[in-house]
Amino acid sequence: MPPPFLEQEQTSKRKQDHIELAFLSQTTERDERFYYEPFLAGHPERNVIPEKHLAGKTLRLPIWIGSMTGGTEKAGLINRNLAQACKEFGMGFGLGSCRIILKNDDFFEDFNVRPIIGDEQVFFANLGIAQIEEIIESGRFELIRDLITRLDADGLIIHINPLQEWLQPEGDKIKHNPIETISRVLDAIDIKIIVKEVGQGFGPKSFMELMRLPIEAIEFGAHGGTNFATLELHRQKDTIREQMLPLTHIGHSAEEMVSFANNALAVLGAEAHCKNIIASGGVRNFLDGYYLIKKSNLNTVYAQASAFLKHATGDYEQLRQYCISQEKGLMTSYQYLSIK
Ligand SMILES: Cc1cc2nc3c(=O)[nH]c(=O)nc-3n(C[C@H](O)[C@H](O)[C@H](O)COP(=O)(O)O)c2cc1C
Repeated sequence: MPPPFLEQEQTSKRKQDHIELAFLSQTTERDERFYYEPFLAGHPERNVIPEKHLAGKTLRLPIWIGSMTGGTEKAGLINRNLAQACKEFGMGFGLGSCRIILKNDDFFEDFNVRPIIGDEQVFFANLGIAQIEEIIESGRFELIRDLITRLDADGLIIHINPLQEWLQPEGDKIKHNPIETISRVLDAIDIKIIVKEVGQGFGPKSFMELMRLPIEAIEFGAHGGTNFATLELHRQKDTIREQMLPLTHIGHSAEEMVSFANNALAVLGAEAHCKNIIASGGVRNFLDGYYLIKKSNLNTVYAQASAFLKHATGDYEQLRQYCISQEKGLMTSYQYLSIK
């Protein structure tokens, strides 16, 4: 407790601030997705955010760190920061593409974050569908098994990115129907698999087919945030960028994809073998994430990629502060908000 004279001084300063800041604090925007019910509960305790379960593990926050980087100068630092945050806040972590360490260990330490993240957090490796096709063609499934073992990962994320590969000058060709390719991996090896896009999302028919498979989770990688087709066009000449840009406008938002998920669950019933969702792509903050979780009829967490990246390239404290604000925001959401 501050002494009475100090308390008086603080109150007086606060009242002065209020007068000075009132005109700067006029609201013009309103988020119309929620009902706000301030009279029905006190301030939240830590435990108002329900735990989530994925891949046999528990997430204390319903947040997943979206797949990002590896094999570049800052990748190791970024991944170590992200892993540290996962451990401290109880979040899940998907690595960026591990292609670069599939056949040699030169950049292994950039990805080797299990010792940091600890055994209790969910942690997945990541490969593109084109590399999976190559592995199937060569019959070398042991490459996937070894990758998972070396990283001590809980499973593998497969990213399906046809537009990105198509627009990338050095891009790979995807030769087969990805649903069939994933089925072949599931038949050949016993590992947990998550499937995702990389910023375009995917439509209801793809969703339905994916949900029939016995995979661990579907991650949206929806349209509305970082988009890898756009990113590849930024690496191209201006003329090509202009000509191909319309392609980057197609896709599906995370909100639209939640309705695909709910609908697929209703239609498939017992034939829905995957019932876990990682809602990602354009999730700007905890309110977007909370909204998606509440809209979904499946076991759902939300993911952010670029939002975490923004805070993960320097010292850990910056990322930690970001995580604290997301946790605080989520607590408020669970205590006072319901969706319309
Ligand atoms: C720097 C960066 C690198 C990425 N690399 C990968 C990758 O290797 N594999 C993958 O599946 N997705 C990758 N992504 C895509 C993200 O996982 C995510 O689907 C996409 O960025 C949309 O999320 P956001 O809007 O929260 O950024 C990357 C994203 C960023 C920003």
